[in-house]
Amino acid sequence: MLLNYYATGVGMAVLEGRIAVVTGGAYSLGYAFCEALAAEGADIAIADVRDSADAAAGLREKFGRRALGFKVDVSDEASVAKFASELREALGPVEILVNNAALFAELPALPFHEYPADLWDRVMAVNVRGPFLMAKHLAPMMIEAGRGKIINIGSGTAYKGMPEMLAYVTSKAAILGLTRSLARELGPHGVNVNTLAPGLIESPSVLEHPHNLAPSEKVIRSRAMPRAGVPQDLLGALVFLASPASDFVTAQTLAVDGGSVTL
Ligand SMILES: NC(=O)c1ccc[n+]([C@@H]2O[C@H](COP(=O)([O-])OP(=O)(O)OC[C@H]3O[C@@H](n4cnc5c(N)ncnc54)[C@H](O)[C@@H]3O)[C@@H](O)[C@H]2O)c1
Repeated sequence: MLLNYYATGVGMAVLEGRIAVVTGGAYSLGYAFCEALAAEGADIAIADVRDSADAAAGLREKFGRRALGFKVDVSDEASVAKFASELREALGPVEILVNNAALFAELPALPFHEYPADLWDRVMAVNVRGPFLMAKHLAPMMIEAGRGKIINIGSGTAYKGMPEMLAYVTSKAAILGLTRSLARELGPHGVNVNTLAPGLIESPSVLEHPHNLAPSEKVIRSRAMPRAGVPQDLLGALVFLASPASDFVTAQTLAVDGGSVTL
């Protein structure tokens, strides 16, 4: 069942008529991002390996925007290239890309010396090659339009490190370099590239895997605001980075974690 993240009618439609792609948007934080963007007036394309037909139908019904689900494996260039052309045909040129898909909640917690090398490669393929491929195939539409917003979902773990999640944390550290370098290449074309770095958030996926991810008392106490984070906590920052309000903000990381990481 899809949850209600962003109340209908509260948006000021700052994204009216924009076309947004959210990878991994069928569920969990990705779906919350879709709701926020749709509430602000954007049309949505969900690109997920999961079936996203229900999520897209929910967005159409709740927000009255165009919303379509596409089956895409972000780590596979042929799949991403096919998505890019189907997207342009179905909705039009994309203006907002949220690189949210990742291998995360389902990953096993393992000491690094036991980490299987092929799982390491898979994490890098989805979490790093995925955002690169999406940018490679979608940014040309933004360059053509002379404007665009790429929001890469990073993680506070890239700043602090985290035991038994070496591949994941390393992949999220790579997102910082990807963001900074892409921002330099795309800035002259009017395209902003930023990282939104959540702290541990009680997303549906995290709550399904509480054995290795639930926020401990120690995690909560490490925050300036000592409480658990929920998906809604990320949405204001996401809308800011997607909207004209951030037109002169690029190559940055916005940490949304109650003041755990201070950049
Ligand atoms: N929840 C947290 O505490 C937290 C904290 C920091 C960062 N993040 C980041 O936020 C994002 C979402 O996290 P979540 O908590 O919703 O977890 P999640 O693991 O459910 O999110 C992953 C989403 O990506 C999709 N996906 C996986 N592989 C894919 C592929 N190859 N192609 C396309 N889609 C694919 C999944 O189907 C799922 O919808 C991730 O990038 C995660 O690293 C989450």
